[in-house]
Amino acid sequence: MSKDIRNLISILDLSIEEIDKLINVANDIEKNPEKYAEACRHKQLATLFFEPSTRTRLSFESAMLSLGGSVLGFSSANSSSAAKGESVSDTIQTVGNYADIIAMRHPKEGAPFVAANRTQVPIINAGDGGHFHPTQTLTDLLTISRKKGRLKDMTIGLCGDLKFGRTVHSLIEATLRYEGIKYVLISPEELRLPEYMIDKLKEAGAEFEEITDLEVAMPKLDVLYMTRIQKERFFNEEDYVRLKDTYILTPEKLNNAKEDLCIMHPLPRVNEISVKVDDDPRACYFYQTRCGKQVRMALILFLLGIKVED
Ligand code: CP
Repeated sequence: MSKDIRNLISILDLSIEEIDKLINVANDIEKNPEKYAEACRHKQLATLFFEPSTRTRLSFESAMLSLGGSVLGFSSANSSSAAKGESVSDTIQTVGNYADIIAMRHPKEGAPFVAANRTQVPIINAGDGGHFHPTQTLTDLLTISRKKGRLKDMTIGLCGDLKFGRTVHSLIEATLRYEGIKYVLISPEELRLPEYMIDKLKEAGAEFEEITDLEVAMPKLDVLYMTRIQKERFFNEEDYVRLKDTYILTPEKLNNAKEDLCIMHPLPRVNEISVKVDDDPRACYFYQTRCGKQVRMALILFLLGIKVED
């Protein structure tokens, strides 16, 4: 791998200063989208999605199109030669000849890391199994910074499938680097945060508690990050059915929440937030999807080394 190529495999590939810059560029994109309309002219983004996606793939594609570039790719393993047995390594060595930058999602943890060692174009991890989802984290950080006006000194409740929820793992890794963040980890016993993530919290000296009752946690939260129970990562249907509706956020459960609570969800949601919550001004999850496009535009520019002047 060339030293000059920057990839985004884990959120830790970006320094806090770089994340701040991406947030600033995303904020400028929100105010002055026309300034960026030709920034990626003649550049091509490949989206290689070996797993289903709505937001991540389409926001990446929309981001590149809004930067004046073009897109190619596939939306399922079945429509690529992976269905014929091609390896990730061979796919990436091929697509690296067609595109300037690649966003890939894969069910196997570590697949984007393997890919990054097989090409000279930047690789973006768009989700690898139950591991990490760094561009969702950039989306979440932009949302929190806009809604709360800060990225430090707050209590974040993470609720649902903390075992398989890659968005939770990446968000914890990112926020551990900011001052004064406390965590309330709300999950059924079987879906607790994995031990390697607990170790990271301990090593960082972070204040955290693990509980099962969402309503007990509610009054102290500044951010509530709901997650879906990840059906596709369960080994048996019976366990999924037993756990899937453990947490359903309703307007009643928000009665003792802070007035400026920020309710987030990476989406897709299944049942874990009632649609009756959608009209609550504290519901930020569709606003998150707007942030996702803008921060991915900023990321594409950054990884391609393109600066847009005033
Ligand atoms: N948040 C997220 O990753 O959504 P998709 O699975 O629809 O891309």
